[in-house]
Amino acid sequence: MESDAKPLLRALTGEPVWPPPVWLMRQAGRYLPEYRAVRATAGDFIALCTTPDLAAEVTLQPIRRYRFDAAILFSDILMLPWALGHGLAFREGEGPVLPPLRDAAGVEALRPERVAGAISPILETVRRVRAGLAAEGFDRTALIGFAGAPFTVACYMVEGSGSRDFAATRAMAYGEPRLFARLIDLLAEATVDYLAAQIEAGAEAVMLFDSWAGILSPPQFQAHVTRPTRAIVQELRRRYPTVPVIGFARLAGMAVGEYAASTAVQAVGMDTGMDPSHVARLVPPRVALQGNLDPLAVVAGGDALSSETDAILTAMRGRPFVFNLGHGIVPQTPPEHVAALVERVRAA
Ligand code: CP3
Repeated sequence: MESDAKPLLRALTGEPVWPPPVWLMRQAGRYLPEYRAVRATAGDFIALCTTPDLAAEVTLQPIRRYRFDAAILFSDILMLPWALGHGLAFREGEGPVLPPLRDAAGVEALRPERVAGAISPILETVRRVRAGLAAEGFDRTALIGFAGAPFTVACYMVEGSGSRDFAATRAMAYGEPRLFARLIDLLAEATVDYLAAQIEAGAEAVMLFDSWAGILSPPQFQAHVTRPTRAIVQELRRRYPTVPVIGFARLAGMAVGEYAASTAVQAVGMDTGMDPSHVARLVPPRVALQGNLDPLAVVAGGDALSSETDAILTAMRGRPFVFNLGHGIVPQTPPEHVAALVERVRAA
């Protein structure tokens, strides 16, 4: 019997739904003129993330255009450090800027008791998006909540900005292992509460973005990626047994099998460099896969987009799978190429 659950949730719980559900990382963003229009009225990016009307509106924009199988809450992984009272600013053309956290005093200054209050506008956005999806008739579109995984969030807090290699963060992890583990554990606990609150507000699945996981050595990956992710997944599973967790350990390479098996995530995100057939052999068969089209193939369009899309679909047919990109959509993407992509996936 065909279940009437949303296709994304069926795929994430192990059903080989075909054609596969599709959504795109960073699907709400600067490539959409309607996003740029709202962004211009909001002032800065943090104001956009903390104004529920506007954040809900930009979350729904890509759903109206493409009827994606998932809406992802419009927010940012750095809103958790912001809620912990760590400074955060987004500078135009520069990305995030934070006070670099380099010592015990920096960890002591974090205020977990502030989080519940600070995130309340974000939870209101979640409620409005759930209501908006229903009101606009998108009854097959599921709502994904998210957080950064502790290691990637720590990278930005310690470094104080983006970086090619997060050298200061990795130096701290080696040089002051107890202090770094304390930061990771504090973030893991705050992340459980943050994701639990998103689920209570209406998120139907949650995703952990560990964008920089792959820069770590195997023992450090185990300590700062796998270990805290398993703790987060276990606690969420205990509280919400039916809500799937998607883990995206970007650049993890060969470690993806061990990551999937030991964290017990229901689904893993694949980055662009991973061969989906190979990943399928590395992870337990119950684990759904998500990914991994090159965002630049969507910029290119035409034959490049079709053939790259088809290669992924062919490799994943018969498996629980969610079509996505291997990293976020880029601002120069022509919106009509996204429409062509969605059409091709839905014709699979
Ligand atoms: O996917 C979505 O549509 C939901 C919203 C979302 C954003 N950021 C919005 C955003 C999500 C899930 C994120 C995750 C995020 N944020 C990650 C993990 C995924 C990844 O890309 O690796 C990371 C590392 C961040 C931190 C971050 N936020 C950076 C480095 C930047 C600057 C780079 C950039 O693209 O400008 C941001 C800003 C940001 N987050 C924007 C958006 C739409 C652009 C801000 C703008 O509109 O001016």
